[in-house]
Amino acid sequence: MRNPNIAILGATGVVGREITKIVDELKIEFNEIKFLSSARSAGTKLEFQGKTYTVEEAKPESFDGVNIVLASAGASTSKLFAPEIVKRGGVLVDNSSAFRMEADVPLVIAYVNDEDLRHHKGIVANPNCSTSQLMLVLKPLIDKNPMKRLIVSTYQAVSGAGLAAINELTENTKARLAGEKFENKCFKKPIAFNVIPQIDVFTENGYTKEEMKVVNETKKILHLPADLPISCTAARVPVYNGHSEAVDIEFENEITPDEVREILENSFGVKVIDNPDNFEYPTTYDASGVDPVFVGRIRKNLAFKNGISLWCVADNLRIGAALNTVRICKKLIEMELY
Ligand SMILES: NC(=O)c1ccc[n+]([C@@H]2O[C@H](COP(=O)([O-])OP(=O)(O)OC[C@H]3O[C@@H](n4cnc5c(N)ncnc54)[C@H](OP(=O)(O)O)[C@@H]3O)[C@@H](O)[C@H]2O)c1
Repeated sequence: MRNPNIAILGATGVVGREITKIVDELKIEFNEIKFLSSARSAGTKLEFQGKTYTVEEAKPESFDGVNIVLASAGASTSKLFAPEIVKRGGVLVDNSSAFRMEADVPLVIAYVNDEDLRHHKGIVANPNCSTSQLMLVLKPLIDKNPMKRLIVSTYQAVSGAGLAAINELTENTKARLAGEKFENKCFKKPIAFNVIPQIDVFTENGYTKEEMKVVNETKKILHLPADLPISCTAARVPVYNGHSEAVDIEFENEITPDEVREILENSFGVKVIDNPDNFEYPTTYDASGVDPVFVGRIRKNLAFKNGISLWCVADNLRIGAALNTVRICKKLIEMELY
């Protein structure tokens, strides 16, 4: 099979830039590559693998002859271009929430549920960042011991809300330290020196959309029963990059912290740092800019029978978005699904 023609849609954004870097890092073999944005950034010059490319404005014709589109340009842009991409025979790997819960769209974490890619009808969805890092940890555990209940609390970095949010943390912090007034735009409350218990909008049941994404996407990716109890609380914290999660899992059968450590130490994409006596546990400083999902603080959960609690940290821009997108691209190529 011929190497694919690839387009990166949203190439000038936080996630798009990361995707571009990782296409190079994972040595994705392509025939041609192009970089697309809105009219705002069209004309931007971009260096990639020793060549200078000009970012083009995305239009339906941009997808002529393109086999795989790696998109991180927001849900409305994905909805606009998906039919154009599919009509032209391309596969859209989409980072937005536009198609994640559609029945005929596989929601995939590479190395967790690759086989679901075989059912794609032109669109593959990349899960939400807080769900993504959790899947690489949960999958090897529940393969050994089925899960009965899951409670997740997230501490999410501002990079998960895009470039404007990163700048807002900087400007808000400067203003606060200088004792100046600051008008927050990206967040409902000041983000500097604060924790905000809201990511995305509230839904009817009192949970936010972000929290319900963790609940629903986890069930879809891991093929869990619809009534399996999962609960999530998602908070935004004044960290530039790297999401942290406190995770409580109840298993069907007895399991010890040592068994969990051993399973995770031998699992793809996971690195265990767990020696509290020496203050060794993962923080966002360990995770930013690298690939593994880090796990530590593995201990018996005191509230559940057969329960385990752990702390899980990852680079939300990489495993939560760009790295998984490019890994999916790699799998599509290896499995000849484009
Ligand atoms: N940040 C994360 O951790 C994260 C994680 C998972 C998923 N995502 C998702 O990824 C997407 C992008 O996030 P981001 O943080 O990278 O945002 P961002 O920094 O604001 O970048 C958005 C990108 O989309 C492009 N774009 C916007 N409207 C467009 C249009 N009509 N046509 C073509 N291109 C358009 C922008 O081009 P211009 O430069 O021309 O404006 C830019 O390249 C969102 O759907 C987000 O939900 C983000």
